[in-house]
Amino acid sequence: MQTKILSPSREWLELAKKYIQAGEVVAFHTETVYGLGADAFSDEAVQKIYALKGRPSDNPLIVHVHREYDIARLIDGEPPYAASLRSAFLPGPLTMVYPSTGKVSKYVSCGLNTLAIRVPSSPAAQAFLREVDLPIAAPSANISKHVSPVTARHVYDDFNGKIPLILDGGACNGGIESTVLDCTGEIPVILREGLVTREMIASVAGDCGIYKMKEGEKPKSPGMAYKHYSPRCKTAYFIAEALEDAIACYEAEVKSGAPCFLCETAVCARLNGYETLDLGGTPEEMARRLYMLLRKGERQATLLIGIEPSEHGGVMAGVLNRLHRAFGVNV
Ligand code: TXA
Ligand code: MG
Repeated sequence: MQTKILSPSREWLELAKKYIQAGEVVAFHTETVYGLGADAFSDEAVQKIYALKGRPSDNPLIVHVHREYDIARLIDGEPPYAASLRSAFLPGPLTMVYPSTGKVSKYVSCGLNTLAIRVPSSPAAQAFLREVDLPIAAPSANISKHVSPVTARHVYDDFNGKIPLILDGGACNGGIESTVLDCTGEIPVILREGLVTREMIASVAGDCGIYKMKEGEKPKSPGMAYKHYSPRCKTAYFIAEALEDAIACYEAEVKSGAPCFLCETAVCARLNGYETLDLGGTPEEMARRLYMLLRKGERQATLLIGIEPSEHGGVMAGVLNRLHRAFGVNV
């Protein structure tokens, strides 16, 4: 199969619709990361997504809809705080988990009685979703456990020859996946941190919890149980206070390989003469650059050495969660 990469146009929309209606899987731009989408009503189409990604069959998918789509068909009611959150943050990088009516394919939620719904703000994603006018089940468009894709080229690198079409909307500005929020209880609870922060949600809903998995418990959001977002090279990770140890690790590798640091701008400045990838100075910048640099790092380095950024709180919670998973810290 030949994989086409097309920029937004009428041809692009018509082709995408044709493929989705034929039960194919197409990749599309969103404001967070690229998605690998298929008709959420079709068992066969949804199963194709799992097969293509090599995704475990117990890790449910998010359903994407355009902003005018009537989600009442898909969800079995919503608490008042969820309606307020929708009007405050959607379209945008917030996925909301609701009780499901069970109308979409059973493979979307992997046997859970809930459904995760997302209304992306990317104009390319909105145009695509409006054209097909169907709920589109879509995980991030990467091979399972690999770094999520933030350019059409990243998707191509993982799926060339395996999918017919990549809808190229440019680089993803957000850079990390949406916040996943459980809206089935008394108060909203974050299952995956992202660009819509706990503080932002609490300011609208009055309160917001963060789900922490207890030892031995079955995770509420099964994706949390897996190592994720990992570059395909050796990795090491250090706290900022252990910079001397990180440099010793670099020096040991450089004798036979090509090490590279991944760190915030202020730390890069202290590593003059060493190979570095600059994550940036603000949480938003670090979110936007993280996956781009992990993909770049795995191509050019034999060992990627992550240094923990000094910033915490807000969007940094999501960035740190992805960094820790990519480097295998606390997972
Ligand atoms: O930004 C995003 O969310 C991107 C773009 C493409 O929209 N999508 C994405 O999908 O990150 P994926 O499949 O890589 O991650 C979906 C996460 C997983 O951690 C999964 O376990 C969780 O959402 N999830 C999906 N349905 C759920 C449900 N019914 N209950 C709890 N967690 C759910
Ligand atoms: Mg993913």
